Amino acid sequence: MPMGVGSQRVAVENPQLSPTFEVRSLAPDIPLFANLGAVQLNYRYGLEECLRVVDLLAADALILHLNPLQECVQTQGDTNFRGLLATIATLCQKLPVPVIVKEVGNGISASLAAQLIAAGVAAIDVAGAGGTSWAKVESERATDPIQQRLGITFADWGLPTAECITTIRAISSEIPLIASGGLRNGLDAAKTIALGADLAGLAWPFLRAAHDSEAALDTLVQVLIAELKTVLFCTGSACLDDLRRPGILQSVP
Ligand SMILES: Cc1cc2nc3c(=O)[nH]c(=O)nc-3n(C[C@H](O)[C@H](O)[C@H](O)COP(=O)(O)O)c2cc1C
Repeated sequence: MPMGVGSQRVAVENPQLSPTFEVRSLAPDIPLFANLGAVQLNYRYGLEECLRVVDLLAADALILHLNPLQECVQTQGDTNFRGLLATIATLCQKLPVPVIVKEVGNGISASLAAQLIAAGVAAIDVAGAGGTSWAKVESERATDPIQQRLGITFADWGLPTAECITTIRAISSEIPLIASGGLRNGLDAAKTIALGADLAGLAWPFLRAAHDSEAALDTLVQVLIAELKTVLFCTGSACLDDLRRPGILQSVP
């Protein structure tokens, strides 16, 4: 079970918070993903900051998140996304670890995926609509009534996770795909794998469990594994890869 941390911008800007990201000693042998907002690359961030956050985590890959809607709803959000594709392509060449690009709950289209693949990204996390809505979250945080209304209008905006997976898989059978956005249990995860994802990601369920207790987190992990095993057993599948065989979707309601 790999883990991705939240944006490490907070640690770049407040180095005293860096130790809060030093989780490698607690998880010595799982894939760990560093994280920064891609748009920060247009606001003074560059190769040096990317290397710093990867080192901080001893990460296996760097995730760059695309969050244009969130930045629009945020008060004084960073909305200059111009030229980022070329910057991402350069980072893919210069960084010693793979670069993964993700959304944050509004989905990645097949046409954007094609451009990201051409830029050299190693994997894509679609982070589609249907789960956590950052437009809604930012609307709640905003004090300005215009930002509040904007967030409500766009609360459900975006490409659904399942649609992102199927449309991107249709244009590339190779690119490693992570499904996230609205997945709530192991059955949801299995369905996205049947649709063509390689990994399934959950944010809100882990936040919720972590808010309750460490024991709730342990239980969540055990339940997810039990749910995945149950899907495999009940569909006569030997492993997760088997879920992709033709016709299996009919037996996963
Ligand atoms: C509390 C919280 C913080 C998040 N912070 C980040 C972040 O810093 N960087 C990022 O790429 N995605 C972030 N996400 C987005 C998730 O990775 C995920 O794409 C999105 O929430 C959809 O999944 P969910 O419906 O399971 O929450 C965050 C999600 C939550 C719930």
